[in-house]
Amino acid sequence: MQNNDPTYNPLEDIDQIIVTEAEIQARLIELGKEINEAYEERDVAVIAIINGAIIFVADLIRRLSISMKLDCIRIANYRDDDKSMQKPEIIDKIRLDLKGLDVLIIDDILDTGRTLSHVTEIFKTMQPASLKTCVLLDKKTTRSVDFEADFVGFRIPDEFVVGYGLDFAERYRQLPCIGVLRPELQNPPEWS
Ligand code: IMP
Ligand code: MG
Repeated sequence: MQNNDPTYNPLEDIDQIIVTEAEIQARLIELGKEINEAYEERDVAVIAIINGAIIFVADLIRRLSISMKLDCIRIANYRDDDKSMQKPEIIDKIRLDLKGLDVLIIDDILDTGRTLSHVTEIFKTMQPASLKTCVLLDKKTTRSVDFEADFVGFRIPDEFVVGYGLDFAERYRQLPCIGVLRPELQNPPEWS
């Protein structure tokens, strides 16, 4: 990353592309169909977990022909002293009343499963008619809790990826594809 470098192109920081732009765009069409079929004649509340799901949700909902409302939540991970691990917490509450609605929670990636299992537990208390989850990416091998998403874009290997909404230190969300950063960029001290 070079500040003030007119030739800077974030794509050059990618070592290996895991999912191409064309693959994402093709999968969005299929996922849109799957979701349309699952929610035919229902009224859906799509809840995006931001910032990571911003790009995915923006593209995906334009493939949906169902009746739907959109809202966003934001998650922070706080250290839980008793268990000495990160505990996800919803820090920006939703404004929609979810009671009786079919709720579809959308996140960028399912990794340990802690975020989505925690969020779904909280949402269940709001008495939705149904509750499902959709993720763009699923790192199958990294779960620390038992959790599976209902709709999955791509299953990927256990690599730290950026692009199409996914960040490293809030950067690279704008990339149209998903890839792994060059090793020397994975922990530059000036970004921490
Ligand atoms: P989980 O709670 O471990 O399932 O993690 C989900 C969150 O971790 C995602 O919403 C992302 O913000 C973040 N995350 C996990 N893996 C990656 C990755 O490879 N790249 C970027 N963010 C990731
Ligand atoms: Mg994130």
